[in-house]
Amino acid sequence: MPLTVSLPVIALSAASPADVDTDLLAVPVFDGDDTAADLRALDDATGGVLMRAQESRELQGRLYEMLVTPVISGWHASRIAFVGAGKRKEFNTERLRRVAAAAALGARQRRVQRMAWLNRGDLPLVAAVQAATEGIALSAFSADRYKSAERGAPPLDQALIIAGPVEEPSELEAAIDRGRILGESSNIARELSNEPSNVLTPLVFAERATEICAAAGIAVNILGEREIADLGMGLLLGVARGSAEPPRVIVMRHSPAGAPHAPVLGLIGKGITFDTGGISIKPADGMERMKDDMAGGAAVICAMRAIGLLKAPINVIGIVPTTENMPGGRAMKPGDVLTSASGKTVEVINTDAEGRLVLGDGLWYAQKLGATHLVDVATLTGAAVVALGKATSAIFGQPDAWVDVVRQTADAAGDRCWPMPLFEEYAEQLRSEIADMLNTGGRPAGACTAAMFLKEFAGGLPWAHLDVAGTAWFDEAKPWMPKGASGVAVRALAELAFTSTTWK
Ligand code: BES
Ligand code: MN
Ligand code: ZN
Repeated sequence: MPLTVSLPVIALSAASPADVDTDLLAVPVFDGDDTAADLRALDDATGGVLMRAQESRELQGRLYEMLVTPVISGWHASRIAFVGAGKRKEFNTERLRRVAAAAALGARQRRVQRMAWLNRGDLPLVAAVQAATEGIALSAFSADRYKSAERGAPPLDQALIIAGPVEEPSELEAAIDRGRILGESSNIARELSNEPSNVLTPLVFAERATEICAAAGIAVNILGEREIADLGMGLLLGVARGSAEPPRVIVMRHSPAGAPHAPVLGLIGKGITFDTGGISIKPADGMERMKDDMAGGAAVICAMRAIGLLKAPINVIGIVPTTENMPGGRAMKPGDVLTSASGKTVEVINTDAEGRLVLGDGLWYAQKLGATHLVDVATLTGAAVVALGKATSAIFGQPDAWVDVVRQTADAAGDRCWPMPLFEEYAEQLRSEIADMLNTGGRPAGACTAAMFLKEFAGGLPWAHLDVAGTAWFDEAKPWMPKGASGVAVRALAELAFTSTTWK
C-alpha cells in the first residue's frame, strides 16, 4: 500500500491580512494581548467581536482556545479564527508549532480548505515561519487509512503564511521548504508506527524504508539473515529466533559530494515491529500498542529522508535492526547466553528486554561503518514512562557536551528531552555470573540500567540514547495532535545533521 500522507500547498504571502483571500485567517492571540495595537484592525474587521470576547474573558489567550467569527467588513478572508497562544514571554518555536497545528486541525474540523496563518509574536522570522509550516504540515496527518467509511475531515488544500513584506523572501521560502520536509517526514514516521504488525513485518518495513529513502537520494542496503549471521550479530538473531518472520538490518547512507571525512553521524533506531515480550510474555492488556515498538526505527528512516532532501552537509549513516519479538518454538529462553557482534556475551534473563539487544548490535555496526558520533532512539523501557511520564523523552549519553548538543537541538525541534544519569553503580545490576553481562538490571532505575547496557556497545564514542517509550504514542488526543503515533525524534535527528560545526 503506498504512503497516503498528503500535504496542503504551503506558501508565503506578503499581502496585508486584509487582502489575503482565504476561508479562514488564523491569528494567534497572547494572554494579556488586549491592548496590542495590531489587533485593532482585526477587531474592526470582526465588527468588534474580538474586543468584546477579550473583555468578557471568552478569549483569554490561553493555549489552544479558539474563537471563530465571520469577517464583516471589506476583508478578503471569510472568517477569522483567534487562537490562544499563551503568554507572550513564554512563546517559543515549539509553542508556535503546536498552536499553528491546533489552528490547522480546528480549520480541518470545520471543513475549511484554504487557511492563512498570520505571523505574530517576537520570535526570529525565519524560525517562526519554519515552525508554523511544520505545525500546518503535521495537522495534515490522518490515522484512518483502514476505515472503509466514516473518514475524518480531509487535510487543508492550501495554507498561506502571512509574514509581512520582507527584504529577503527567499530565506522565508527556504524556511517553508524546510518546515514542509520536516513535517512531512514526521507524518511518514507516524504512518509507519500506526501500521499494524501483520502489515508492517520486518520485510515490509525494509521495503518501505527503501522506497522512502530512494525518493530522497539516500542509499539503502538491506542485510538479510545470511549477512546478519556473517557479521556475527548474535543479539539480533537471538531476538529473531522466536518469530516466523525473518529479521533484517536496514542500512541507509547519506554521502553528499564534498562532505568532510569526519564527523560521521550514526543514527540507530529500534525496529521491533511487534513486541510480545517473547517467552517472558507481556500481559494481554494493552499489548496491541506494541506494534509501535519500531517508532525509533521509523524516526531514523524518516530523519534520513529529511537529511537527504535537505542536503545536510555531512555524512550520515542510519541503522535499523528490525525483527519481531515472539515466543515461537525456537525462541530464545531466559538463561540463554548470546554473543554479540562486538564479542561481548549477554545472559538473557528476560526476553522482554529485547530492544537493547538489537540496538547493541546496531551500535556496533554503525561504528564498523565509520560513524564517529552516535545517537540511538528507542521505545526502550516502561521505566522511562514511570520516571518522566509522557511529557518528555529521556536522554542519556556521554560526554556531557555531546548530550547537550543533542538535547538542545531536540528541544528546539519540538522533541523535548530530559537528562538522566549513567552512574557506575547501575553497572552492578547488570553483572552476570556466567557471561559479560545480564540483559536486565531488575526494577530499580530500569531506564538507567537499560542505557547502561547500551553504553557497553557505544565503544567510548560520543553517544546519546533517547528513550521515547513515553513520547512515541499518545492514547489521548491533544489540541495539536490526534491520538496515536507522534513521529517523535524525526525532526530532532534531522536538525542534528546541520549542527556539526558546534560539535567538539
Ligand atoms: N518495548 C518495551 C518498552 C515499552 C513499554 C515501550 C511501554 C512503550 C511502552 C520494551 O521492549 C520492554 O518490554 N521493556 C521492559 C524491560 C524489562 C523487561 C527490563 C519493560 O520496560 O518492562
Ligand atoms: Mn520488550
Ligand atoms: Zn520492546
